[in-house]
Amino acid sequence: AIDIEKLRAATGAITLDPGYKNSGSCQSKITFLDGEEGILRYRGYAIEDLADKANFLEVSYLVIFGELPTKQQLAQFETDIHKYTLVNEEMKNIIDGFPKTAHPMGVLSSLTSALTAFNPKVVNVENEKEMYEAVCKTMGKFLVLATWTYRKSSGFPLNYYDNTKGYVENFMRLMFELPTGPYKINPVVVNALDKLFILHADHEQNCSTSTVRMVGSSHAGLFASISAGVSALWGPLHGGANQAVLEMLEEIQKDGGDADKFLAKAKDKNDPFRLMGFGHRVYKNFDPRAKIIKKAADEVLAELGVNDPILNIAKRLEESALQDEYFKSRNLYPNVDFYSGIIYRALGIPTDMFTVLFAIGRLPGWIAQWKEMRVNKEPIGRPRQVYTGYALRPFTEMNQR
Ligand code: ACO
Repeated sequence: AIDIEKLRAATGAITLDPGYKNSGSCQSKITFLDGEEGILRYRGYAIEDLADKANFLEVSYLVIFGELPTKQQLAQFETDIHKYTLVNEEMKNIIDGFPKTAHPMGVLSSLTSALTAFNPKVVNVENEKEMYEAVCKTMGKFLVLATWTYRKSSGFPLNYYDNTKGYVENFMRLMFELPTGPYKINPVVVNALDKLFILHADHEQNCSTSTVRMVGSSHAGLFASISAGVSALWGPLHGGANQAVLEMLEEIQKDGGDADKFLAKAKDKNDPFRLMGFGHRVYKNFDPRAKIIKKAADEVLAELGVNDPILNIAKRLEESALQDEYFKSRNLYPNVDFYSGIIYRALGIPTDMFTVLFAIGRLPGWIAQWKEMRVNKEPIGRPRQVYTGYALRPFTEMNQR
């Protein structure tokens, strides 16, 4: 048996905190989050004000550089991002190498990593100009590549960025414009998406952001770190939950539409099923983003005149769960992913692209946290462990095993 005391003596005292539930990994000036009170602020500004009054690029600038941009700074930022939206033509060979059925998050992570081949120099964070260019480059290329993952899977030709249109408008164009003619941009859709991206822009040390910091802490470059962040976001317990929510709602529909039956399944401890889009590691009262999104979802659905049976199931599920003792006693409320999936579906976004939209929204947060980590000269991330394996064992020769 292992002599834990001896090992402790050899390694020193170690705090065991699986899932880092109570461990801070860094000091940060970017996002303030109070899970008990349901408060979220970027750089001191309330998420409610930002979602209501600012646009996504404005919020991205704030999150990354620390201050709200002036009108000129914002216009310049947009122009500078436009400059970097062209992607090296050789990247298309990489895209062509994927089967059409590849999940867009896997493709996006690979393409982001592949950008390092065409941009091998790791940015010097001390050099403001260089850092600013890296930010614009990342914001520009990532958006285009994100939409190309969809164009590839749907078999449509790749579209190019239109510098006369805004960032979020371009997202819709790049996704849906066909060779037959220009895509008609619906301002209701663009506004809803803009708001969704703002709500996702940063969320302090979540799984994907911690991953970006961790990879970057070895002084790996920005694209490499963000590629890892995309992979971390993909999982159904994190960003992948928005896709999982929709798949769950479709399953309930196929099964006859009985939301309460699935609620009972989620409460059954012998059943691994969880209600997707419910619960949060930090928000134990309510998710302030969910409140804003719920309102936006209602507006978008009314404006677009969408009447979708899946959405009625979502409403029933939400109402029942909010009154249920199991969910109430564990402080399980709908999170941002519960409603974002509903809006994306109403906007005609394919289900397996939902998490890619989360990634586009989270990009400024990843960049800001990477930059802050490097500017603060943080040490390489390297957690310890408590070893529970064998103590020293005598080696058994092959012929004696
Ligand atoms: N359905 C049913 N029961 C749940 C759910 C759920 N969605 N979420 C938590 N619980 C239960 C757990 O079984 C546990 O019950 P117990 O105390 O009887 O054992 C209790 O609530 C606490 O849950 P934990 O798993 O300990 O909470 P944790 O903070 O580790 O997990 C998480 C948070 C991962 C978000 C979890 O609530 C979950 O799996 N939710 C569904 C997936 C999801 O929506 N993820 C998106 C998160 S938000 C985001 O990434 C933007």
